Amino acid sequence: MRLEHYMKGMKRHLNLQSCEASQALKRKLGDEDILKKYMIRSTFLMLCGELSNKSVLDLACGFGYFTRLAKSLGAYRVIGVDISEPEIEIAKADNHRGEIEYLLGDASEHDSPLLSGLGSFDMVTAIFLLNYLGTREKIYYACRNIAGCLNPGGKLIAFVDVNLQPDRKYGFTSSAKKPLNEGDVMRGIIYHEDRKVCNFNFHYWHLKTFEDALERAGFDAVESHDPIISEQGMVEFGERFWQEILERPNSKAITCHKPYNSHLKQDIERRI
Ligand SMILES: C[S@@+](CC[C@H](N)C(=O)[O-])C[C@H]1O[C@@H](n2cnc3c(N)ncnc32)[C@H](O)[C@@H]1O
Repeated sequence: MRLEHYMKGMKRHLNLQSCEASQALKRKLGDEDILKKYMIRSTFLMLCGELSNKSVLDLACGFGYFTRLAKSLGAYRVIGVDISEPEIEIAKADNHRGEIEYLLGDASEHDSPLLSGLGSFDMVTAIFLLNYLGTREKIYYACRNIAGCLNPGGKLIAFVDVNLQPDRKYGFTSSAKKPLNEGDVMRGIIYHEDRKVCNFNFHYWHLKTFEDALERAGFDAVESHDPIISEQGMVEFGERFWQEILERPNSKAITCHKPYNSHLKQDIERRI
């Protein structure tokens, strides 16, 4: 009942087409989203390393797909934060054992009091957060907040959209007017069985814009990674199916570390 109530909210929130709310929800939860299930998840697993006895903050957690994954990989403290109330409420409704804390908050707020009050974590994830930020300043603020939430040596895994995705066979397309300039709005559309399920807007930024903002925020070893397809994805769909997206991925992962000898203002203030 509670989930149905929030699905109605989601339908309004995501501008869903009629009767498609449950499909959109399933996709967002990860069950139907083949890119998330076979590409982003496997790339995340390749990059995240051992999580047992680690603490994880999942920014822009949405319905909590990667928040739940971090918990299932053994992280002892897991918090998900998202700016959207309906998404957080659905994440909470799917948090059966109450092991994850979900909070409503803006990850790009300047020196976010919410985030700085959470303590520090071994890993922060920001899976498709940064493209939602419409200015370079907000991207920088989000990167500073992330650095402030990490223990020295702690790691960030972010996923960012870097290319348009024209082919709807992967269940998702993104488009924009051309020529594509930094900060331009991109239109994302989610499909289920070839029908539009929902659409949403985000922003185009060069990979380098994200990397520069992370370095400016004090991160070391900023690296980008092409996505990989899981073995299961290869078996179910075949190599040929994935060829286009592997040759020209619409998204990439970024990893970086907070230096052990961080001189971030937030850390110095904590030490005083
Ligand atoms: C594409 S969804 C990704 C959700 C989740 N990370 C996943 O991969 O399943 C992007 C999410 O970013 C959230 N978001 C956008 N701007 C945000 C902000 N400033 N702070 C926190 N969350 C934000 C949206 O509400 C949405 O849930």
